[in-house]
Amino acid sequence: MVSEIPELSNPSVCMRDPQRVEEILQSMVKAGSNTVQVIADFDMTLTRFAYKGKRCPTCHNILDNSNLISNECREELKVLLDTYYPIEIDSARSIAEKLPLMVEWWTKAHKIMVQQKIRKDLLATAVRDSDAMLREGYQLLFDHLHEHSIPLLIFSAGIGDILEEVIRQAGVFHSNVKVFSNYMDFDESGLLKAFKGELIHIYNKREGALLNTGHFQELRTRPNVLLLGDSLGDLTMADGVQDMENILKIGFLNDKVEERKQSYLDSYDIVLVQDETLEVPNAIILHLT
Ligand code: TMP
Ligand code: MG
Repeated sequence: MVSEIPELSNPSVCMRDPQRVEEILQSMVKAGSNTVQVIADFDMTLTRFAYKGKRCPTCHNILDNSNLISNECREELKVLLDTYYPIEIDSARSIAEKLPLMVEWWTKAHKIMVQQKIRKDLLATAVRDSDAMLREGYQLLFDHLHEHSIPLLIFSAGIGDILEEVIRQAGVFHSNVKVFSNYMDFDESGLLKAFKGELIHIYNKREGALLNTGHFQELRTRPNVLLLGDSLGDLTMADGVQDMENILKIGFLNDKVEERKQSYLDSYDIVLVQDETLEVPNAIILHLT
């Protein structure tokens, strides 16, 4: 089967156990595409990490780089990024050690953003003017899943309003796409006053939490999961799927490749090393449908 997907021989592909990948794919094909759901992280998974040697923005960075915030605020957010991003990708620290620091990052960043009274009606322009880019092949991924009525759950510690705008402007915010993320709360004059609900950061992504809310009922009936992520925190995104039959985890390893490769190989079934495309996930989805 692995040999039936030539993309799995791409130079960016690394697998700890190709035989296991083959077995999972075989079971998923047998179960049929109506039992499959895709659960994907957004920043640096569905979006590019870099383009022409330049880093691409996360949802938060789209705001950081926009004129919706003051220069002073931009400076503060940059200090936070320079402080906490190296911690996020530090393979020498455990998740337990990083978790409180990540909560600290998100909490501080959101607090600063709220002070800026960001205007809801200007978000679309900020996204349009940004360098955000979905990975090459995104159109096929979104359109094909839609055509085959396969749910795509985007589970993001970014900002829901921004990510929705990115996929809307790309023309792929189809009805099968469900988003679980941090959403902005605006006052009656359309100014940001808070973030809604419980904070989602990179280490508390669990589908169970949202299934309990009663939304997303259809996801319960799809026990075969294709998971796409770029952080080790993304591995728990499918934890709440009930009676899971198979899960195939695909991880993008974008940064600090040498230090992190082994831990990615230990936890993701397929690791895509500095691969800016969705070629491999697309080949797998085409194979499953
Ligand atoms: P996710 O891709 O796992 O959903 O996480 C969102 C990313 O957002 C994570 O890689 C860190 C990044 N981030 C920023 O770039 N700026 C910020 O201010 C915050 C809080 C997060
Ligand atoms: Mg990510």
